[in-house]
Amino acid sequence: MSEAQGGETGAEVSALKVEIEAVWARLTGGEALSEMDRGRARELFSTFKVELNAGRIRAATRGESGDWEVHPWVKRGILLGFRLGEVIDCSLSERFRYFDKETYPTRSLTLADGVRVVPGGTSIRDGVCLERGVTIMPPAFLNTGSFVGEGTMIDSHALIGSCAQIGRRCHISAAAQIGGVLEPVGALPVIIEDDVLIGGNCGVYEGTIVRERAVIGAGVTLTGATPIYDAVRGTVYRREEGRPLEVPRGAVVVPGSRLITSGPAREMGLSIYAPIIVKYRDEKTDASVQLEEFLR
Ligand SMILES: CC(C)(COP(=O)(O)OP(=O)(O)OC[C@H]1O[C@@H](n2cnc3c(N)ncnc32)[C@H](O)[C@@H]1OP(=O)(O)O)[C@@H](O)C(=O)NCCC(=O)NCCS
Repeated sequence: MSEAQGGETGAEVSALKVEIEAVWARLTGGEALSEMDRGRARELFSTFKVELNAGRIRAATRGESGDWEVHPWVKRGILLGFRLGEVIDCSLSERFRYFDKETYPTRSLTLADGVRVVPGGTSIRDGVCLERGVTIMPPAFLNTGSFVGEGTMIDSHALIGSCAQIGRRCHISAAAQIGGVLEPVGALPVIIEDDVLIGGNCGVYEGTIVRERAVIGAGVTLTGATPIYDAVRGTVYRREEGRPLEVPRGAVVVPGSRLITSGPAREMGLSIYAPIIVKYRDEKTDASVQLEEFLR
């Protein structure tokens, strides 16, 4: 995944950060902005969105150690847009009626951006970074603050939630739901690293990190609180204090179940949903998930 130009480097970005934090402090401190200050804040927000769209600032970036770092000020900037924007009538015609915050129109793209947005009901909000070679099948919804790396395919009915970070050459399959998080501002968004396949109908939520080359089989749901059972290494992965749930690099996860071994549920013979790592990626997995290059 491209490295963090990420919010914390560069003089221009630092200046932007300072200004965003200052406006945020005033607004959350209960101060009413004058018309002039409001106008300036909106200009500032427009500059901020240009940087978000270009991927020069991101809600979370990966450090050299491989750990992900969240940038709360970027999330504050995104929230600022909601505070500053009035709801306007942005209907396409009398038959296609839409109403939304004027600060969050749909993303303005041109051919030169080098992405394919196949016609038919997709909505990409302003503040989304799409690297070259991204393909988006209809209908998909990409919320503000999200980042999609080069060559990634977002399939039909997929959701990319606010601030979610999707790596390069990933496949986010049909109906997969990648959760978003804006608040609390310090919370890590969902992170999908490079070369990951998220199968159809999956749900990945609450700041879960899916490490490089992992394969999340169709129908797997991962929330921050879901333990993942590794049937290869004989271990269980859980979210820990200060660390999100992580799917290890190259893991192949499929939906399974486990017996409940205590209490009345045991007496009743119940079992509960459990995602299981059945293997680590091999040639057979590669063949199963090979991206259809002709379709790109
Ligand atoms: C995970 C997946 C890629 C298979 O990977 P694979 O490496 O080819 O897996 P294998 O066939 O070697 O299976 C390994 C084991 O897991 C089991 N398994 C594989 N996929 C499974 C699944 N989805 N659910 C339950 N068990 C599964 C196999 O039965 C096998 O167990 P066994 O050895 O006891 O028989 C595939 O099941 C999958 O989910 N693909 C995504 C499909 C999809 O959503 N496409 C998007 C279209 S838009």
